[in-house]
Amino acid sequence: MIDQSAAWRELEAHAETMGRCHLGELFAEAPRRAERFTRRAAGLTLDLSKQRWSDETLSRLLALAEWAGVPDAIGDLLGGERVNVSENRPALHTALRLPADASLEVDGEDLVPRVQSTLTRMDDMVSRFHAGQWRGATGRPIRDVVNLGVGGSDLGPLMVTHALADYRLADVHRVEIHFASTMDGSQLVDYLSRFNPETTLFVLSSKSFTTIDTLSNARTARDWLMARLECLEGVDGDLVMHQHFIGVSASPEKMSEWGIAPANQLEFWEWVGGRYSLWGAIGLPIALVVGMANFRALLAGAHAMDEHFATAPLADNLPVLLALAGIWNVNFLDIRAHSILPYDGRLEFFAAYLEQLEMESNGKSATHDGRQVGYSTCPVLWGQLGPNAQHAFYQLLHQGTQPVACDFIAPLCRYDDVADEATREHLKSQHRLTLANCFAQSRLLMLGDEAIDEEGPRPGHKRYRGNQPSTTLLLDRLTPATLGALIALYEHKVFVQATIWNVNPFDQWGVELGKQIAGETERILSSHSGHERMDASTRALVEAVWLAESGGDD
Ligand code: F6P
Repeated sequence: MIDQSAAWRELEAHAETMGRCHLGELFAEAPRRAERFTRRAAGLTLDLSKQRWSDETLSRLLALAEWAGVPDAIGDLLGGERVNVSENRPALHTALRLPADASLEVDGEDLVPRVQSTLTRMDDMVSRFHAGQWRGATGRPIRDVVNLGVGGSDLGPLMVTHALADYRLADVHRVEIHFASTMDGSQLVDYLSRFNPETTLFVLSSKSFTTIDTLSNARTARDWLMARLECLEGVDGDLVMHQHFIGVSASPEKMSEWGIAPANQLEFWEWVGGRYSLWGAIGLPIALVVGMANFRALLAGAHAMDEHFATAPLADNLPVLLALAGIWNVNFLDIRAHSILPYDGRLEFFAAYLEQLEMESNGKSATHDGRQVGYSTCPVLWGQLGPNAQHAFYQLLHQGTQPVACDFIAPLCRYDDVADEATREHLKSQHRLTLANCFAQSRLLMLGDEAIDEEGPRPGHKRYRGNQPSTTLLLDRLTPATLGALIALYEHKVFVQATIWNVNPFDQWGVELGKQIAGETERILSSHSGHERMDASTRALVEAVWLAESGGDD
C-alpha cells in the first residue's frame, strides 16, 4: 500500500510543517516562486505557485510518483496494456487522437486504421448534413439534430459544442444541435413541442446501448416520429428509421436490434471508456457544429498533450504536476473539496464534464487487488463559471470553514476577430474585466487580509483568512487545439492520481447497483405490488405515487 511507503510517511511528516505555513509567507520568502512553479505545454500555461507547497514538497511528491510507478504506468496506458484491470481491457482514448500516419498495435492489430475509418465515415455524414443532403422521410433537409445520451455520451459533446461555438461553420446548411439526457424526458418534451418531425433527426449515443435513460428517450422520440410521419404518403417505418436515426455505440448488434440502419451506425470500441469517448464517433455533434477540420484540430491538440505526457520529465509534466498538487491537498493537507472555476462563458459545462471525469473515475475505495484503501481518494469536485460563482458560493471560499482547492481557468486573448470595431473594444474590455476578477480572486484566496492595504483592526465579519490553495490555467486562446489539450490534461491528471491511489479509473461499478435497484423499484411501481419487502420510508414513497396516480389526495 502506498501509504506504507517511506515516501508517503516522509510527506506526512513534511506536511506537519507545511500545514502551518501561510501562502502569503511562502511568496514573501521566495520572490521567484511564480516562475519556479509554472510550466507550459500545448498552448497551456499551468501556474501551480499558489499551491501550499514548496520545492521540497514537490521533490517528495515526485519521489512518491516514482515509487508508485507513474512513468511505467504512463507507458502502459499509451501502449495499450490492459490497464482497466477489473474489465480486463486497455483504455485507449489516446488512440482515437493518434495522427493518421501513426500506428498502435494491440493484440496483433493496428488500431489506427479502424479509428481513421470511423473518422472518415463521420466526415461523410457531416458533409451530407452540411450540404443539406441528409433529408428526412418527406425529402426535406434535416435542420434539428437531437443527441440522446447521458453521462459520457452527453457531457463531452455538450461541453465541447458549447466551448467551440465561435467555430460554428457559417457557409453550410445550418443544422442546430440539441441534447436530451434526462430520463424524465424534460428536455425531450420541450424539443418535441417545438421541432418539425420532418426535419428532425435523433442521434442515439450509448456505448452499451442498454442505458435506460437514453433508450426511454429514444422510444418516445421514435413513437413521436412514427405517429407524425408514417401516415404521410410515400413514408413507411423503414424510411423513418433510415432518415431520422443515427446510432453511436460499441454494440452494432444492439443498434441493429433497435432498428438503426447499418449505414447509420457509427462504432466505437470497448477499449474506450464512456467518459473518455468524445474523441471518436460520440463526438459527431461536435463535428456537426464545427466541421471535421476543427474536430481534427481538437484531436491534434489532445494528441499534443499526450505526447507531452509521454515524453516530458515528471518534474515538467503538466498532468503529473496537476495530479501531484491534488494528491498533496487531499492526502496531506486534508483538503477534500475542489472547485473548478472557468472565467469564460464558453466553458459553462466544463465543470459538469470534469465532475464525471474525476469522480466517476477516481471516486473509488477498493485497490486493484480488492483491498480497501486507508487514505482519501477523489475529492468532492464541483464548479461553475467563476464570475457567476463569485455571486453565489465564493462566500464560502473566502470566509467559510472548509478548505477548498480551486482551479481557475481562462484564455489570455479573446475577441480579436470581432468585425465591428466598437463592439470589439467593448468585448475586449469585458474580457479584461473578467481576467481581472479571475486574478483578483485567486490572489485574495491566497493572501486573505494581506491583499488589502488597509491599516487598523477590522471586525470578524470583514476578515479574510486566505491560504486557500489554487491553480491557474491559462489558455493562449480557446481554440479546438487548446481545448483538446485542456481536456487531455485533466484525463491524464486523473490517471496519474489513480496510479498513486492504486485504483482503477476506467470502471464504474459503483453505479451498477443503483441501476439494478431502480429496475426493481420500477417494476414494483408499475405492477402495484411487491413493496412489502421494502423499508418503511421507500414503501411510503411508493404508496404516495400510487395514491397520486389514482387521483386521490389522502
Ligand atoms: O451509469 C454510468 C455510465 O455507464 C457512464 O459511465 C456512462 O458514461 C453513462 O452511464 C452512459 O452509458 P452509455 O454510453 O453506455 O449509455
